[in-house]
Amino acid sequence: MSKIKKVTRILHFSDTHVDLQIRHMAWKRWFSKRAIGAINLLRGRSKYFDDTEKKIAALIQFKEAQKIDLVIHTGDYTALGLESELKLAKELVSPLMNPPQRYVTVPGNHDIYVHEGNSHYRFSEQFCSVLQNDLPEYCRGGHWPLIRLVGDDIAVIAVNSSKPNPIPWHSNGMIPQEQLDALEEVLQDPRVKERYIFIMTHYAPRLANGKPDTKLHGLINADDFLKRCKAVKSGAILCGHIHKTYHLDLEGLACDLYCAGSATMDRHEGFWVYEVKEKQLQASPVFWDGKEGCYSYHK
Ligand SMILES: [Fe+2]
Ligand SMILES: [Fe+2]
Repeated sequence: MSKIKKVTRILHFSDTHVDLQIRHMAWKRWFSKRAIGAINLLRGRSKYFDDTEKKIAALIQFKEAQKIDLVIHTGDYTALGLESELKLAKELVSPLMNPPQRYVTVPGNHDIYVHEGNSHYRFSEQFCSVLQNDLPEYCRGGHWPLIRLVGDDIAVIAVNSSKPNPIPWHSNGMIPQEQLDALEEVLQDPRVKERYIFIMTHYAPRLANGKPDTKLHGLINADDFLKRCKAVKSGAILCGHIHKTYHLDLEGLACDLYCAGSATMDRHEGFWVYEVKEKQLQASPVFWDGKEGCYSYHK
């Protein structure tokens, strides 16, 4: 009797932007880029994320009800990358990290907001339990690329495109060349290449209209990244950073682009649920129902 192929259900969310109240920040920490970020928060950005804790709790309920097999977060857990914010963010999403092998993540630019010598370390310290790499021989700096083999037919490859931006009006990202080279290599690995492949990173290589993002806000080497993704026979590219949930057919590539948007930003809330069966993907957007206080497939 032939074996019935299982459907794998994946929840992809992003840009939750947990922030601590400004009044709890020590004044000595208000410097450089963080100061600008703090002023932005005071000016009102943070009010869009007032209900983040409530929405994450609702997302956890949604995950349980929908029997999700794998959870993906494409970064920007926090507003300013403070250790206390990262700790709180980790605490809030930790019910989604069980078991840790079924949670894959990358940092966003807000999680390593300022370069203080250890900004990447702060993220890794909080999220170390979900940073296991099934093929660590491909690591080229820190944990990246991080490869997770899910069942016998799915692989997730996480590349890190976030970096500290010391200039306040810059919020662009870049995937280091060594990671792109490793991505090219891993896509030829027999343990990976015949699977359905998710390549995930924080920055969007293309906007919803198909154009590249601006130089100051986007992925600097988006074209090089997309060129390497041409080796994927069946798969998808997953990202965040743009606070809008969208799907884009990428011309000349066997993988479409899915941006999760922000799961928690007021009036922009959204994320994706993917079903993979026999290397075919079905994607469903999920929205926030403010009246019911829950997430739903219908707007
Ligand atoms: Fe964001
Ligand atoms: Fe971002």
